[in-house]
Amino acid sequence: MAAKFKAPRGTFDVLPSDSQARARVYVAAAMAFERAGYGRIETPVFEETELFARGVGESTDIVQKEMFTFEDQGGRSLTLRPEATASICRAYAEHGMHKLPQPVKLWCWGPFFRHERPQSGRYRQFHQIDSEVIGTDSPLADAESIILLSDLLSELGVPGVRLRLGSLGSHESRKAYRDDLRAYLRQHEASLSEDVRSRIDSNPLRAFDSDHEGTQGVMEDAPTMLDHLDAADAEHFEAVKRAVSDAGVEYQLDGTLVRGLDYYTRTVFEFTSDALGAQSALGGGGRYDGLVAELGGPETPAVGWAAGIERILLALGETEDEPSLDAFIVAPESQRDRALGLATEARRAGACVDLDLAGRSEKGQMKQADRTGAKRAVILAEDGSAKIRDMATGEERPLDTSDVAAEIQRERGK
Ligand code: HAM
Repeated sequence: MAAKFKAPRGTFDVLPSDSQARARVYVAAAMAFERAGYGRIETPVFEETELFARGVGESTDIVQKEMFTFEDQGGRSLTLRPEATASICRAYAEHGMHKLPQPVKLWCWGPFFRHERPQSGRYRQFHQIDSEVIGTDSPLADAESIILLSDLLSELGVPGVRLRLGSLGSHESRKAYRDDLRAYLRQHEASLSEDVRSRIDSNPLRAFDSDHEGTQGVMEDAPTMLDHLDAADAEHFEAVKRAVSDAGVEYQLDGTLVRGLDYYTRTVFEFTSDALGAQSALGGGGRYDGLVAELGGPETPAVGWAAGIERILLALGETEDEPSLDAFIVAPESQRDRALGLATEARRAGACVDLDLAGRSEKGQMKQADRTGAKRAVILAEDGSAKIRDMATGEERPLDTSDVAAEIQRERGK
């Protein structure tokens, strides 16, 4: 029968067969953050629309075209979060975290929503690991953030990873650069895409991100922010590069890296993988020294990044789930209640045990034991005796059912 309902376009179900690889990414991230002194934060999946409009920036694609925005019953405009940074800065200000010892290091993991054109590696609901270090302008915080993501990707074994690193300067030095860039873009207006032309005033830097051929040609010779850094920005950037290099993390300098969100100042970076297609960005981030204040909090420098879980999994390729069942209990009709009792006892003792709940014959249960990938079958007989069978070798031996849990645990340790 054809399914009546399907997951909405650009979304997907995480099925049990996908979940082990995801869990591995989660555990590796959680441990990496724990080792580096981060605390986990969870913010709501929707926020006031204004938070993202102000935080991410009115002239960005995200705010202009990609937000899932709706009105609630009270007439308030709410938006499914397209990213985490604005929410985390809101939480930092709302909970007075500036009164805590600084910096405050936070991380989160969860679903995010952008109304983009779906394709491989690009979804309307996707998942990010997000890292934020709030309350320091030290270049070491930028470097630490970059190193953490680099080490996480290599620990996971993501192939073909490259890091691009740039600096957008402070808001002040960028103003002067923006004027230069605007003048340059106006000189070449005829070759630019409609979209870029319409944003020369509001967001000239976005021209670097354009996939329009004419625009790309123009941007090859465009002035870049890296040549316009003032002394303090240049010194900050040098210190970031030095600390990243000292940790053995390789990077390519990239003066055209502008990122799709407006809040960045100074350091910006992006990790890509050669194993991915057009959507090659595994993760990216940078410093955002003005965002907390922009959202009504105190002046607070900060730096962070987010990485796409699905992109990481795509780059890793197909992985076979390891079967995790220690034993599957096979029982004749008369022993079914006892089978559940034994399974419960063994589970309470920490073993992974399953049993038939579909009324299969004993032969059917053996087949099922095989299908689940269980390492052993515990086979109960009508007379109450039992044996344990190694599913790989077929070897069997009698089992003392007075303590099945301990037996399974003992087998497990082998
Ligand atoms: P972002 O570059 O917009 O940054 O997103 C980070 C990562 O999320 C991307 O590199 C990509 O792996 C993944 N991603 C984004 N959109 C999609 C999509 N439609 N489908 C699948 N994956 C996607 C941020 O979100 C910033 N908040 C990062 C940050 C944190 N900057 C400072 N702190």
